[in-house]
Amino acid sequence: MMGPTAVNLRSYMQSAAGRVEQALDHYTSPAYLSGAPSQIREAMRYSLLGGGKRLRPALVLAAASLFSADDTIAMPAACAMEMIHTYSLIHDDLPAMDDDDLRRGRPTNHKVFGEATAILAGDGLLTLAFQVLTECGSHPSVGWHQMARVIGEVAQAAGVEGMVGGQVLDLAAEGCTLPAKAMQEIHRLKTGAIFRASLRVGAILAGVDEPSITALTRYADAFGLAFQIQDDVLDVVGSTEILGKPVGSDERHAKSTYVQLYGLDQARRLARREVDAALGALEMFGERAELLRALVRYVVERER
Ligand code: IPE
Ligand code: IPE
Ligand code: MG
Ligand code: MG
Ligand code: MG
Repeated sequence: MMGPTAVNLRSYMQSAAGRVEQALDHYTSPAYLSGAPSQIREAMRYSLLGGGKRLRPALVLAAASLFSADDTIAMPAACAMEMIHTYSLIHDDLPAMDDDDLRRGRPTNHKVFGEATAILAGDGLLTLAFQVLTECGSHPSVGWHQMARVIGEVAQAAGVEGMVGGQVLDLAAEGCTLPAKAMQEIHRLKTGAIFRASLRVGAILAGVDEPSITALTRYADAFGLAFQIQDDVLDVVGSTEILGKPVGSDERHAKSTYVQLYGLDQARRLARREVDAALGALEMFGERAELLRALVRYVVERER
């Protein structure tokens, strides 16, 4: 059943995705990247502009709009998070990692452009993300200290204390049955860190007070964990056609996942528990946070 919130969420996500895609198109255009060889630009655009739910940029913009009417302040940061996320997907799919052939409903980057170009397209997106991120500093209401903090947060989330660190642990855990704490730590790092940075950066750019940032961080951490548990669930019960990526990838690689550790039902229960925790973290924002509430409920209802 679809209530009024679900309707609003769909139109919000559509409009946010549309605006983000327009900006991503600009930041990878020959005009913006006039010094770049066209073959690497095309490989980057292939993965960046080819589908995707645009959830991380939607969260950046939603966090900013919770505190400021003008979410254009955060648009470059929203694009930066999507670029980092897309780079992580290109590398995640490489033969040396999850070795998958399908992403966002199309052949993976290395299948089309070859492994060397796919690696470099990922490198290109990661570095372009920081170039684009600095564009936030040209907004008159964003001060240098905010900009410096934002760059630090994004770097930490993307790097060895965040996504990269999580991917290392994910690969090391193949074929193992991990204790619950270790499993949660992998998810917190490989997926949670980018969601955490997305919300924090949107809020920091909007000039928010620290208690609000702390509350949003609690929301983000629960959101990220629920999101990756549902990703593990969909790898088992989802449809390749709807997901746009292969199902059964985790089992093929003997991955440590919530489903492997807990079974489907318990994994789903744990995801819902995280949704409740995320909702709890939003209490101080009252009605203003309806969008963030709808976004986290969507995480465990989604089929893609
Ligand atoms: C997939 O993320 C990778 C994970 C971190 C689980 P998404 O499900 O958000 O992928 P897109 O961006 O919609 O393709
Ligand atoms: C991905 O985890 C985490 C990333 C940092 C990309 P998965 O390997 O489960 O993501 P999918 O299922 O391939 O999208
Ligand atoms: Mg992986
Ligand atoms: Mg994968
Ligand atoms: Mg997965």
